[in-house]
Amino acid sequence: MISRSELRRAAELLRRGELVAFPTETVYGLGANALDAAAVARIYQVKGRPSTSPLIVHVDSIEMARRLAAEWPDTAAKLAGLWWPGPLTLVLPKRPIVPDIVTAGLPTVGLRMPAAGLALDLIRMAGTPLAAPSANRFGELSPTTAEHVRRALGDKVAMILDGGPAEVGIESTVVSLAGPKPVLLRPGQVTRQDIESITGPVEVQDRTEGSHPSPGMHPRHYCPHTPLLLLSQGSSLPQEGRGAWLYLSTPRGCHRELAMPRDAAGYARVLYARLHEVDAEGLDWIAVERPPDTVEWAGVLDRLRRAASG
Ligand code: TXA
Ligand code: MG
Repeated sequence: MISRSELRRAAELLRRGELVAFPTETVYGLGANALDAAAVARIYQVKGRPSTSPLIVHVDSIEMARRLAAEWPDTAAKLAGLWWPGPLTLVLPKRPIVPDIVTAGLPTVGLRMPAAGLALDLIRMAGTPLAAPSANRFGELSPTTAEHVRRALGDKVAMILDGGPAEVGIESTVVSLAGPKPVLLRPGQVTRQDIESITGPVEVQDRTEGSHPSPGMHPRHYCPHTPLLLLSQGSSLPQEGRGAWLYLSTPRGCHRELAMPRDAAGYARVLYARLHEVDAEGLDWIAVERPPDTVEWAGVLDRLRRAASG
């Protein structure tokens, strides 16, 4: 449990331009005052993140979101009404008050109201929106516990708030409402169907292809150090070396096997923690049984595909 005084100290550090890692319902974030360009610059530096990759700004209310977005279309109001606070990021035209460094020079800003009580309390206490990417080094596995953050960035942040394991386990769904048609930029727990029930047909950006049409859409992302293979039913495990088999349906008698949850939400919740765990075992490969290619599994499949592209 985090005490009031710890929260107050974290809020004070953020106001002074320091970095604070904090839990959200999706993954842990590396937070800075989104209106302080120098503080935000330190996020890029600490993560080793290219300056072409825009950050998500976390707000405590729709009112705060509207102070940052230049437009608030009906679809934004409806989606926020349904899913905020929650694991959904809306990309909208930005107001000049949002520093260019936050959006990597784009005229749009990604906005999200996180569900976790602690993150909301922190934004409220800091009295300012918080820019926060996942609290990992660029390209590596996202953190779902405070310990993951400590291992990756421990000596580089002013404070790490420990709120226990993240509930959702994979990053928020990102939808752009800034163009003529809504575009799904990153799948997550809020599904394409969920979005389409409000907006009508959305375009889906395929981020697994070589080039990335939008800044920050790097195909190689969320990668363990150990090579990861995504295996369809029927394909065999590598003959060489020692590895781990993360399966849904079929154990194979591999020396290291982990049964993964069979529901998409349960799978997402433990995915990064399991990958962090087996990645630390010095194996030659991690083989993962490919989950079904359905709407509910889209978020998990996206992270696995990209973990496999390293
Ligand atoms: O669940 C989450 O969203 C977590 C927690 C901490 O809230 N944050 C997170 O941030 O995943 P990050 O920086 O790891 O991913 C942000 C992604 C960018 O890579 C980019 O794809 C998209 O959000 N994004 C942010 N702003 C954007 C913009 N203006 N236009 C297009 N995409 C944007
Ligand atoms: Mg990230």
